[in-house]
Amino acid sequence: MIIIQSVSELKNYIKKTKISGKSIGFVPTMGALHQGHLSLVQRAVNENDNVVVSIFVNPTQFNNKEDLAKYPRTLERDAAMLQASGCDVIFCPEKENIYSENELTNTFEFDFGGLDKVMEGKFRPNHFNGVVQIVSKLFELVQPTRAYFGEKDFQQLAIIHRMNELLGFGVEIVDCPIVREPSGLAMSSRNERLSQNQRKVASNIYKILSENTNFAPEKSPHELVEIIECKINCINGLKVEYVEIADRQTLKTVNDWSKPSIVCVAVFCGDVRLIDNMKIEKFL
Ligand code: PAF
Repeated sequence: MIIIQSVSELKNYIKKTKISGKSIGFVPTMGALHQGHLSLVQRAVNENDNVVVSIFVNPTQFNNKEDLAKYPRTLERDAAMLQASGCDVIFCPEKENIYSENELTNTFEFDFGGLDKVMEGKFRPNHFNGVVQIVSKLFELVQPTRAYFGEKDFQQLAIIHRMNELLGFGVEIVDCPIVREPSGLAMSSRNERLSQNQRKVASNIYKILSENTNFAPEKSPHELVEIIECKINCINGLKVEYVEIADRQTLKTVNDWSKPSIVCVAVFCGDVRLIDNMKIEKFL
């Protein structure tokens, strides 16, 4: 495995790999890796000749400076995990190698056809512009055959699909299932900031989602949202930011069960903001 910081070195590597006709699997990350990331890397290793993992805490997707400052940075540990998982290249540039001063002020604007106006988009203005800004740059540099994203960030995944289509990258986007801790808590780099007790408390999010999505046909989506919100808020230490039941394609709020839908939540556990989701499969 090699660790590349410079853009020109990465370009040389990609050029050689392309000339030799090898496929490239790409896993973009912000580091602080956990089993969820490793499941993406594992899949990329199985399906491609070479695998590139980027580690870059992207400043333009943080709308909260404190959140950016607190984001865990664990490069040495990440590198050891990636080495063991069969990754070929870690690309970990400095922000100066990626962005000009101008780009850092996040002037990037992209038409997401409304996908960015709901859920995370309502609470994290400009977040998805920042995500697409970095992912499009990384796609241009890495030129992957396939790129792997987790379904925990369901809205991000929908937006990446749209970006890929609109900007014509032709990358095969591979949607990968959420990986959960034995308690059910969705794996996330932010879990590092939870105490042992908070992790237990936070696992109620999964419990409540799985118990309540079973009742989907008897209740309207609106009633179900209220029930889930109320149950989560009843747990000491959890505070809902939003609960939405959305159309899986458009991410618009659904009023009935005629379309494949998904329940998405953002919940504070102390000062740590967690997101999770569950597809409502059973009644389609
Ligand atoms: O999901 C993430 O970790 C980030 O949003 C991504 C895709 C690596 C872009 O910075």
